[in-house]
Amino acid sequence: MRTHVKHVDFTCHPSDTARRLRAAGERPCGRCKSSVHAIGTGYYTCGGWRCPRAITQRSRDQQPLHLPNDESKDKFVFKLTLFSMRAVLVKNDAGPADSLYIGQVETPVANANEVLVKVKAFGLNRMDIHQREGHYPPPPGSSTVLGVEFSGQITSVGTQVTRWNVGDEVLGLAGGGAYAEYIVVPQTHIVTKPAHLTWAEAAAIPENFLTGSQGSFLPEIVVDLLPAFQAIVLCGEIKAEDNVLVHAGASGVGIAAIQLARFYQAKTVTATASTSVKLDFLRSISNGATHTANYKTQDFSQVVLEETTGGKGVDVLVDFVGQSHFEKNLNSLAMDGRMTLLAFLSGPVVPSVNLATILRKRLRIQGSTLRSRTPTYQSELIARFEREILEHITGQDGPGEIKTYIHKASASVIFPWSEIQAAHREMEADANIGKIIAEID
Ligand SMILES: NC(=O)c1ccc[n+]([C@@H]2O[C@H](COP(=O)([O-])OP(=O)(O)OC[C@H]3O[C@@H](n4cnc5c(N)ncnc54)[C@H](OP(=O)(O)O)[C@@H]3O)[C@@H](O)[C@H]2O)c1
Repeated sequence: MRTHVKHVDFTCHPSDTARRLRAAGERPCGRCKSSVHAIGTGYYTCGGWRCPRAITQRSRDQQPLHLPNDESKDKFVFKLTLFSMRAVLVKNDAGPADSLYIGQVETPVANANEVLVKVKAFGLNRMDIHQREGHYPPPPGSSTVLGVEFSGQITSVGTQVTRWNVGDEVLGLAGGGAYAEYIVVPQTHIVTKPAHLTWAEAAAIPENFLTGSQGSFLPEIVVDLLPAFQAIVLCGEIKAEDNVLVHAGASGVGIAAIQLARFYQAKTVTATASTSVKLDFLRSISNGATHTANYKTQDFSQVVLEETTGGKGVDVLVDFVGQSHFEKNLNSLAMDGRMTLLAFLSGPVVPSVNLATILRKRLRIQGSTLRSRTPTYQSELIARFEREILEHITGQDGPGEIKTYIHKASASVIFPWSEIQAAHREMEADANIGKIIAEID
């Protein structure tokens, strides 16, 4: 709930408060043109004896907002509430899905190189569950509100923003804060939302496709700029006619990785999942898996070696599972195979493994996280993604070579964010085929 008040006049100091007002849609000062000055009549005075520092400094980074001599503290407190927005919060900062609720937090403010986006839809990720439970703190400097991907419309831009304008429709990636009405992100962390995608389809793209693509293709630009990550990128380098194995194939990231592998002309893509419904789905979609294995009832390494690759093994392997799959993964890999580890859904500790296989096959094994990457790495990855992939993506029923598949709540309805508890439970039950998205009303 956001209240807009006319004739908001405020301090001429470069304060966060001033920027908050600007973010709320106020115009910069008509006299000095500074982005942080208020338009108005000198309504507020500076350093007056009534200046309510005790109240204004309740927020760490907020500088005092000076009251006019004739205004009451009540009015001042009212003005502070202008800058709150709704966001999904966690009762007591950690807990089960039941502890999620929609509350009020301060609306973030775009700094010089950032944009403020009104969020239309956001994607759910497993890390959100870990964060909700208190096991996965957001990276330093990021919002503590859950959510790392979103689609929405820009409502204000920082003074150094060159590419974007208010009103632009975008999708993007963040360190946190997407489960909210507004989010602030660097101008480099968004791309234009293709017009043919719905808000929900657009929100399904950032984590799935950018994460999936780390394991499936080589961003040379990233290698040039960040040599420390060279091994990660090379690990997933895909070539035409490679054989690929993707675990958790029906997960949002899994479906994206399968399609990207096909897009880059893999010869075969074998996907694993736990149910025949998921496996049938993965074979049925265009650019889906060429082969599947139920990891609960089959040894997937045997499927890969005996049915899929004629004994050769896979060149590229994307794993989210860790412990239970590790040894079979080594068996599944071909000579010079590359495995990218994105998560450890079955646990991170492998009690016993024969390392000789790694040596004998000259395997490359590399872990990867997207969230903790530097802004530069993420920006370059997003830029390459935009150039090479974005135009090929459509919704599930569109003609694109790559499609977004959204897991629906009952009756084919996308989760409204008011049902965020149910959406989290769905992910915890591993019930989703495709990406779980929540729409903001
Ligand atoms: N490193 C990164 O940069 C990065 C970025 C994004 C996501 N991730 C990780 O990638 C994984 C997939 O993400 P998502 O959002 O696409 O997940 P998701 O849609 O929630 O799907 C996860 C799927 O994994 C399978 N699974 C769960 N536990 C398993 C186990 N013990 N053994 C084998 N399979 C298991 C389940 O399907 P079935 O068992 O039916 O196959 C489940 O539906 C998550 O673990 C997430 O944390 C990593």
